[in-house]
Amino acid sequence: MEIRKAKLEDAAAICEVLRQSVTNLCGGDHKNDPAILGAWLDNKTPETLRSWIADSSSQMLVATEGDNVLAVGGVMDTGEITLNYVLPSARMRGISKRMVQELEVRAKERGAKASFLNSTGTARRFYLAMGYAEQEPKTGMFGAVVYPMSKSL
Ligand SMILES: CC(C)(COP(=O)(O)OP(=O)(O)OC[C@H]1O[C@@H](n2cnc3c(N)ncnc32)[C@H](O)[C@@H]1OP(=O)(O)O)[C@@H](O)C(=O)NCCC(=O)NCCS
Repeated sequence: MEIRKAKLEDAAAICEVLRQSVTNLCGGDHKNDPAILGAWLDNKTPETLRSWIADSSSQMLVATEGDNVLAVGGVMDTGEITLNYVLPSARMRGISKRMVQELEVRAKERGAKASFLNSTGTARRFYLAMGYAEQEPKTGMFGAVVYPMSKSL
């Protein structure tokens, strides 16, 4: 398994990871509510992904095995982790842990003093185990509850 910078040509494979991960792993968050799930998936298109990959104020990484994209992560230069999703079939192999560690390193290299994110309920214990501290939960942009978290870098 290798973690590398995403390329424009990875966009379709990244979309597939995002759609499978949100739909199948985050059921406890969207509860199959069509409004929440629809809003969550709405911007997960190859076109949007290409614009995120090309954005110079953030970095998008992929975990790959051969030609397969297994996970995707994104971090802004500010330290905000915007994406961290793994294929359901690739869970529990340590891929997301390595991905978050890599995102933290990249953010620190770009001058961020802390990394922060809005966790799903699904990933909440994962981030707590990675040393993140949580603030009060709130309603996130797609209508599901999110857990704001941060960690000093
Ligand atoms: C939660 C999630 C991100 C973890 O990804 P993963 O690749 O399966 O996690 P890893 O294999 O890297 O696990 C790393 C550690 O976290 C633990 N862990 C993984 N998922 C966990 C969970 N839901 N609750 C508690 N611990 C968890 C693992 O046991 C492992 O512990 P270890 O280091 O002691 O062995 C992923 O399974 C998931 O559900 N993603 C859905 C999308 C999502 O919510 N993304 C976050 C958006 S903010």
